[in-house]
Amino acid sequence: MNVQIAIDGPSGAGKSTIAKALAKKLGILYVDTGALYRTVGLYAQMCGVDPHNAAAVAELLPEIHAELRYENGSQQVYLNGEPTGDRIRTPEISMYASAVSAIPAVRAFLLDTQREIAAKNGVVMDGRDIGTVILPNANVKIYLTASDECRAKRRFLELREKGIETSLEEVLADMRKRDNADSSREIAPAVAAPDAIPVDSSDLSIEECVSQIEAIVAEKLGR
Ligand code: DC
Repeated sequence: MNVQIAIDGPSGAGKSTIAKALAKKLGILYVDTGALYRTVGLYAQMCGVDPHNAAAVAELLPEIHAELRYENGSQQVYLNGEPTGDRIRTPEISMYASAVSAIPAVRAFLLDTQREIAAKNGVVMDGRDIGTVILPNANVKIYLTASDECRAKRRFLELREKGIETSLEEVLADMRKRDNADSSREIAPAVAAPDAIPVDSSDLSIEECVSQIEAIVAEKLGR
């Protein structure tokens, strides 16, 4: 079996940065599963569909072809043949993604895409339900967290770097709303798998956090 490393946790805990760095060190693929939910959210927004309307969103699914491609080592999601790029990274699409991700039909729709990529490649996969639902037999499961303030600050700086205007207070409020929705939904809630190892990134630099997780991986894989 290919190596499977699941990194779950709330937004802004550093999952993508850390998972990406870890995948590079291990020479395996980094898979950002949130980008798939963001792509479905983007399509709902483009169609003017309320992302909380489960029936209306489910009706859109047959029109969506979401494909993960790797270009120069980085992941790009293609929506019906077009790269989604930064269009899926706006605060508005974050909310759309969170809303559509609570719809069972959406989760079922994206399940195979995620499992297929892990069947064909060694992966570090980041998301909310990787260790609980998508890859329950992953070799290593990490649940990455950080304090709310710390996560909001990171997200704020990330958005500012992308030229997206917002305030720290707004980011913190949006983040809490989204975390609450993600962790209290009925289907595949964003919770730690019982066998996940918790890592708190609040007081760690990226390098320290990667090293800590690398040590856990090395021990688990017996390397
Ligand atoms: O990781 P992210 O912020 O890009 O994810 C966007 C939304 O998608 C998030 O609010 C919850 C949802 N999501 C999910 O339900 N399951 C995943 N595996 C990944 C993301």
